[in-house]
Amino acid sequence: MIAQLFPDAVHTVTAAADREPPALLPAEEPCISRAVAKRRREFAAGRACAREALAQLGIHDFPLLVGPDRAPVWPRDIVGSITHCAGFVGVAAARAGGIRGIGVDAEDARPLDPDLVEMICAPRELQWMGTVPPPQHTDWPKLLFSAKEAVYKCIAPRCERFLAFHDVEITFQPAAGRFAVRFPGASPFPPLQHARVEGRFATTAAHVFTGVLLTTESVTQSHQTFQACDAVARRGSREPNVQSDNPL
Ligand SMILES: CC(C)(COP(=O)(O)OP(=O)(O)OC[C@H]1O[C@@H](n2cnc3c(N)ncnc32)[C@H](O)[C@@H]1OP(=O)(O)O)[C@@H](O)C(=O)NCCC(=O)NCCS
Repeated sequence: MIAQLFPDAVHTVTAAADREPPALLPAEEPCISRAVAKRRREFAAGRACAREALAQLGIHDFPLLVGPDRAPVWPRDIVGSITHCAGFVGVAAARAGGIRGIGVDAEDARPLDPDLVEMICAPRELQWMGTVPPPQHTDWPKLLFSAKEAVYKCIAPRCERFLAFHDVEITFQPAAGRFAVRFPGASPFPPLQHARVEGRFATTAAHVFTGVLLTTESVTQSHQTFQACDAVARRGSREPNVQSDNPL
């Protein structure tokens, strides 16, 4: 299901979270040694999916350690993201190039706890939700929550400050299954020139899924960023690793 959230350049791997996951690599063990069994299982399931996604990108047996901000430490020229929730684990990863960041999130499809709605949704977002029919299988606040979690995972590794829910504004395009992302206050990661953050969403009876990409290139002139990403991807590894020599 998460494959449809991303262009072809992004490799996605999913698994049912209720199966016993393959063992961690030895170097990954200390990252989770003090966790309870349930957390160990979800961590291992995510690492197994990540190992498969990395193998598809030609990188084998890379221990995916945990950074100080709890983000996975991907190989230098790879960007990626992990999500797990009841019954589902998924990973999206790609070669860094035109794609500078990836965020993927899965949540159960139950409506968002009403006590959380105002914390997650800005007044403008709430107003919009009141004017359109609800999405299939869930409600807009839950999709918005997932979208903001995916945005966080996509850009947090580059942010200069903590990103709160109201620092991010989501505009859904329901018929297209897409959403635009804006930062209404000061940019969390200047310079933002030529960078775009955009997402896609999908729902099933059990889950909501969101995928977010931070891209650069001259896609600012295009409304079809994901198509532009596909084009960037087709050029593949000939792209320089701009991640290492340019903050954006
Ligand atoms: C990090 C966070 C987004 C994870 O989302 P979640 O729905 O709770 O959990 P998920 O299972 O979908 O994702 C967990 C994975 O996110 C990844 N992750 C954790 N911290 C991360 C970070 N700082 N940057 C990128 N990815 C991160 C990890 O891979 C983690 O799985 P792992 O520990 O097994 O490797 C969430 O816990 C959090 O801290 N949110 C607060 C920040 C926030 O949401 N701000 C407002 C949004 S704009």
